[in-house]
Amino acid sequence: MKNKAKSINKALDNSIPLCNNFVPLWEPVLEVHKAMRYTLLPGGKRVRPMLCLVACELVGGQESTAMPAACAVEMIHAASLILDDLPCMDDDSLRRGKPTNHKVFGEKTSILASNALRSLAVKQTLASTSLGVTSERVLRAVQEMARAVGTEGLVAGQAADLAGERMSFKNEDDELRYLELMHVHKTAVLVEAAAVVGAIMGGGSDEEIERLKSYARCVGLMFQVMDDVLDETKSSEELGKTAGKDLITGKLTYPKVMGVDNAREYAKRLNREAQEHLQGFDSDKVVPLLSLADYIVKRQN
Ligand code: IPE
Ligand code: IPE
Ligand code: MG
Ligand code: MG
Ligand code: MG
Repeated sequence: MKNKAKSINKALDNSIPLCNNFVPLWEPVLEVHKAMRYTLLPGGKRVRPMLCLVACELVGGQESTAMPAACAVEMIHAASLILDDLPCMDDDSLRRGKPTNHKVFGEKTSILASNALRSLAVKQTLASTSLGVTSERVLRAVQEMARAVGTEGLVAGQAADLAGERMSFKNEDDELRYLELMHVHKTAVLVEAAAVVGAIMGGGSDEEIERLKSYARCVGLMFQVMDDVLDETKSSEELGKTAGKDLITGKLTYPKVMGVDNAREYAKRLNREAQEHLQGFDSDKVVPLLSLADYIVKRQN
């Protein structure tokens, strides 16, 4: 996993240059590239690109075949973090132990950097054809990513998250239904896309892709449940982002609705469910995916 993270970091570093054939970029573009690199490069856990690579290998593909798509998924994630931290969204000033993107580059450049990361993600994925992936598979991967970004994924989740701050519910069942839908859209759909795109690039069958998709949906939801738990139970130093923020801003979260202990139990249940979806794959080959899911439920930041 450490080697994989190194390869991902190297590929990400190469994807956004600061000069072109030793000629520095045009100054306004250079500033946007610096802002893109600021959030994309250091400090992230790289859960999504890692999942993309191990899904590709699980179905018999080479790590290198899925690398552009893995980087693309991380670019979409970084773009979403930049937007999420803006003053008009979560208004956060700390991310990965550093000032947030807009605190350093200003809101205007931040928004441009976020947009540019999303378009670079598409460009990167399309380039997979040069690695021998068929255009049909590449198109399918781009379709998955588009779904994850828009109103079937991230955008819907973030809209629901913002609306949820001032929403009242008839009863706890309604509240839980809304919360799950919100978390699935804002986090799980991209985690799902990471696994699906990895399997598509690796030449997986439709059945294998479906199984991985179900696994990743559980992992993605579990990821956001744990993010909510950590927000309430850890310090800003430990998290590298402002702790206790969800409570202050009145966010709808799992600990808020069911308490911290029940939320942890729910995450563990999702982990077991995720593992069940991997039955049918070779038991040795699924070890990286089982470990990744375990890491997500036990993580400390
Ligand atoms: C944070 O994601 C945003 C959520 C969807 C909860 P990560 O916890 O994966 O952030 P990094 O990339 O490791 O900083
Ligand atoms: C963010 O959820 C989900 C995204 C799509 C970025 P949060 O708002 O809980 O993420 P953090 O806690 O700021 O990382
Ligand atoms: Mg948010
Ligand atoms: Mg946030
Ligand atoms: Mg959070």
